[in-house]
Amino acid sequence: MKPHIDKETDLTARKNRELTAILEVSRVLTTSFDVDKNLSSAMSTLGSLLEMQRGCVFLLDPLSGELRIVAAHGLTKENIEKGKYRIGEGIVGRVLEKKIPMVISNIGKEPLFLNKTGSRPEKDGISFLCVPIEFKNEVLGVLSVDRIYSKELGGVDDDLRVLKIVASLIAQFIKLWGSYEKIEKEKEGLKRELKGKYKIENIIGQSDKMQEVFEAVHRVAPSKTTVLLRGESGTGKELIAKAIHYMSPRNKGPFIKFNCASIPEGLLESELFGHEKGAFTGAISSRKGRFELADGGTIFLDEIGDLPAALQPKILRVLQEKEFERVGSEKTIKVDVRVIAATSRNLEKLVSQDKFREDLYYRLNVIPILLPSLKERGEDIPILIEYFLKKFNKENNRAVVLDNNALQVLLNYDWPGNVRELENTIERLVVMSRSDKITASDLPISLGIKRIKSQVESTSLTSDIEDIEKTNILNALKKTGWVQAKAARILGITPRQIGYKIKKYGINAGHS
Ligand SMILES: Nc1ncnc2c1ncn2[C@@H]1O[C@H](COP(=O)(O)OP(=O)(O)O)[C@@H](O)[C@H]1O
Ligand SMILES: [Mg+2]
Repeated sequence: MKPHIDKETDLTARKNRELTAILEVSRVLTTSFDVDKNLSSAMSTLGSLLEMQRGCVFLLDPLSGELRIVAAHGLTKENIEKGKYRIGEGIVGRVLEKKIPMVISNIGKEPLFLNKTGSRPEKDGISFLCVPIEFKNEVLGVLSVDRIYSKELGGVDDDLRVLKIVASLIAQFIKLWGSYEKIEKEKEGLKRELKGKYKIENIIGQSDKMQEVFEAVHRVAPSKTTVLLRGESGTGKELIAKAIHYMSPRNKGPFIKFNCASIPEGLLESELFGHEKGAFTGAISSRKGRFELADGGTIFLDEIGDLPAALQPKILRVLQEKEFERVGSEKTIKVDVRVIAATSRNLEKLVSQDKFREDLYYRLNVIPILLPSLKERGEDIPILIEYFLKKFNKENNRAVVLDNNALQVLLNYDWPGNVRELENTIERLVVMSRSDKITASDLPISLGIKRIKSQVESTSLTSDIEDIEKTNILNALKKTGWVQAKAARILGITPRQIGYKIKKYGINAGHS
């Protein structure tokens, strides 16, 4: 009698454990939004409650047609990476193909068992159970466990029953997750669409700050008001000036650019307002100035903060009266010109230092638009990178991509030169890269240094940076057979700079 009761108790105990395990699996599957994590917890639950070793969830990647381990219990990372099967390959592949469970009672004796993960040095005595993960006739993947059978553990049939239930829980969970993800993606897309409500061709900016700029551009473009664009160098002031012109009713008229900082003071007036023949030595014929050339269109006065004091009242007059005289002439010329000015300088400070006329300042500052630095709109950096990669790949007939590490370095960098620096960096990478995949080590040295600078605030910062810089220079020199100009190019610095640094660090060919 006694053995019979024992058996009964064993059976009840086992059923209880099975039930607990199944309940626990269904609970852990929905504890977080992290699929891999939930599946791993489910596998360890099977391991601990039912003594199943090495539980694995393989999911089918519909694109590659490959089965990939997404969660595992009792496998190392290395094992996991090796565990890839094609449909029909090995036991796992067959279960997927045939959609039926399979049991190998002793994997040591089964040639079909491939042991791809390499996780079972001793194959003998281990049984392998494998069931398909199915949802409404669609196979999503395979669930497998290892088992060492002893008398106490119950039979294969019991295990298969439990595994089938767990597999169906997993299937439901994965489907649920899939539709959740889909909805989230759609929501993201809608949000982005709403966010990118203001669009200007060829100008990238989804950040709130750029959206404000775009909105202002849309608002001011139709009118003739003077606009003052402010922002650091390389933030897109000129680009925005052009956009305002081309979105305005005067877009058929000329867009004339004039950089107030680039021309010697003595020539500024005649450049802007023109001159008559013989007005000064060298004035062999009369010539129109930029304001006259811009008649009916827009004049873009770049670096207005650098306008010399002598010219300031003349510009003020054009802004107010729309009239001026050519150098060497008494005749007043009237023009229909819209003025857009730009500066990266602190005009208020210049005014307080009496370097910039206050009345001109107010006349220009009717509608100020502030272009944010790239650092202030980091969320736009990935989109800009993508945009420039596409642009320069097309121009150069290439298909260069950045790997994740390289992208991370670019995202962490401060970009003091703003979009211009980013654009130049990507162009150089596309043009110079020998391979189509750019890794972090292909990036100019200066990008990495800035990144470290912003991440580590230690007192030994300078020496850290110097160490890195020295190593990078040394490597580049070795790579190029000590041709400094070539090494400089790899590092993205000038030959002069590398010469200076080589001296500074005392680098010579004797360095190993
Ligand atoms: N938002 C942007 N989207 C795409 N390209 C940009 C953007 N802002 C700037 N650029 C590019 O960066 C470079 C520098 O812009 P620019 O307008 O000359 O800057 P700034 O006049 O402020 O110095 C140009 O090649 C420009 O086309
Ligand atoms: Mg500029």
